[in-house]
Amino acid sequence: MADPRPLSAAPARGTCVVQAPAKINLHLEVLGLRSDGFHELAMVMQSIDLMDRLHLADRADGRIELSADCPGLPLDQDNLIVRAAEALRRHVGRAGLGATMRLDKRIPVGAGLAGGSSDAAAALVGLDALWGLGLPRQDLHGLAADLGSDVPFCLEGGTVLCFGRGERLEPLPPRSVPPLGVLLLKHPRLSVSTPWAYRLCRERRGAEYLRGEEAFERRRRALRTSSLVQALRGLAPLPPIRNDLESVVAAEIAGIGTGMGLLRSCEGALAVAMSGSGPSLFALFPDPAAAARARSALAGELAEAGFDSWCCRFLPHGASLVESGRER
Ligand code: C5P
Repeated sequence: MADPRPLSAAPARGTCVVQAPAKINLHLEVLGLRSDGFHELAMVMQSIDLMDRLHLADRADGRIELSADCPGLPLDQDNLIVRAAEALRRHVGRAGLGATMRLDKRIPVGAGLAGGSSDAAAALVGLDALWGLGLPRQDLHGLAADLGSDVPFCLEGGTVLCFGRGERLEPLPPRSVPPLGVLLLKHPRLSVSTPWAYRLCRERRGAEYLRGEEAFERRRRALRTSSLVQALRGLAPLPPIRNDLESVVAAEIAGIGTGMGLLRSCEGALAVAMSGSGPSLFALFPDPAAAARARSALAGELAEAGFDSWCCRFLPHGASLVESGRER
């Protein structure tokens, strides 16, 4: 059958859609300070199925435009998506590349869930495909690390040991990780700035920081063989989760103690912790059904305390293309 579209229609534009998963921290250990002023970390990061979606379409006029369904989100160079797009076209030396992008925001902002970093990773993945660049993974990781400490993890995703300032990745094999359930809480009126949390940590705990590469490497080795990593390989029960920012941030933000108390009261919770620099909190359960039961049992108290809640699953991947095609 003949194509019914008129011949004078605008030229076909490439389009694609990328999922940008949130992360939680199954371990966050602040080892010390680095010579670049960042903190040296030893973390275990886990992608979960709470996801933003980034819709991308090619444009011929070389402009980069972003819109979002989330009032108050910056849409200019203050947004990591725009910075990712500009860094990518600078990297390939093609200033004329343009895109229209629309973000469906589902991951709460300022929550310690790496929403902004995951959006940046999604922009790298989407624009690499949309612009037909086919860059080596290593180039995308380099660009990701320049955009932010969590962006390389968000490109990779799954269950990953993250060292350095967060950009040195050692993934765990995805099929070995047990399919735990996650109950996630975030109070809509609370948010935390990551630089503030690390500054506070340095003020409160700086005297205890380790010094020197040898001391850092001993902690990395300890994490690789820890009971947590054994548990994530399905070989041991889950130990309590360590997040060195938790006590520092909780001392300043009253709602964190309330949320932790609610999660600790859940029947069947294996572990309870704050994610990243907070203030989102989560409990892990043996399976997703147990997380859903806990959420139902807690519904009245969560509503009374004003918490938003989500039941999530572990995901074995980071930012990933879900659709690509052409539109007129
Ligand atoms: O890398 P990113 O832009 O996400 O970091 C935001 C801020 O968080 C940094 O400017 C720094 O103040 C703090 N940070 C840190 N050590 C890290 C990661 C972040 O001190 N490893």
